[in-house]
Amino acid sequence: MRVVDLDRDMSDVIPTGLTPDSEFLFDRMTKVTLDRTLAAPGQWILDVASGVGQDSIALAGRGARVVGAEPSGRMTGMAQLFAADKPGPMPDWVRGWSDRLPFAEGSFDACICKGAMDHFDAPEVAIAEMARVTRTRGRVVLAIANFESLACRVGRGLDDLRQDVLGLGPLRERRGYDAPSDHFTRYEPDLIREQAEKSLVVESVEGISMGWGMPGWSKWMARIPRPLADVAVRTLDQFGRQWPGLSDVIVLVGRPRRSESTSA
Ligand SMILES: C[S@@+](CC[C@H](N)C(=O)[O-])C[C@H]1O[C@@H](n2cnc3c(N)ncnc32)[C@H](O)[C@@H]1O
Repeated sequence: MRVVDLDRDMSDVIPTGLTPDSEFLFDRMTKVTLDRTLAAPGQWILDVASGVGQDSIALAGRGARVVGAEPSGRMTGMAQLFAADKPGPMPDWVRGWSDRLPFAEGSFDACICKGAMDHFDAPEVAIAEMARVTRTRGRVVLAIANFESLACRVGRGLDDLRQDVLGLGPLRERRGYDAPSDHFTRYEPDLIREQAEKSLVVESVEGISMGWGMPGWSKWMARIPRPLADVAVRTLDQFGRQWPGLSDVIVLVGRPRRSESTSA
């Protein structure tokens, strides 16, 4: 039996009131992930674990022919609702698991999987499947939260200090550096690279944003004048690009490994 909640929706995930740091992180993660697909009119793109479909819809808006694959009927139902009132060509929605993608080898020019690998019970098989359904010179783009980010390290360090030295409780009930209960894997850059390299020739690993989730950071960002907050998050993003190991989100791009030995 698979351990996944097929009735899942995003009501517990999408923040209702966005602070400048959250807004920046989600926008930039989405932009970089979608840009790395090199989506263009006529290209076929697969969005694995497409959730409520916002990325599939955005890629279709760039002229690509998009398929969103998602096991949860509830998520796909929401995606169809979101797509219903949008102009232009919309994605096709397919019900499917990441580790058994219902497509022939080389069907897509690019494959993306954003914010979902840590929900998979067989992530390495999922990457192998993405590599299989992507054409030889195509690209697979994986975006995932980094649980060894600067923010996670600082949060953990402060809690250790409070508990071990001062004998106090943790700063927050849900510690940002612990993977949530619906995650199978606690990703950090070395792990995603190691898993990806089994099926992909890794072309780039980028860091997005830095400091998100640090104790008190969001509150502080919401309080200071907006232009100052914008400068702060952009500056930290530059640090994230420089040191992906400390960034909040990792975006990895790779080519299917079989392309090393073939010329197509
Ligand atoms: C946090 S959501 C991310 C959705 C979307 N990619 C986004 O960026 O908003 C994680 C998604 O993974 C899906 N999922 C969980 N296990 C899966 C699996 N084994 N194969 C494919 N999708 C899965 C869930 O149904 C959910 O829609």
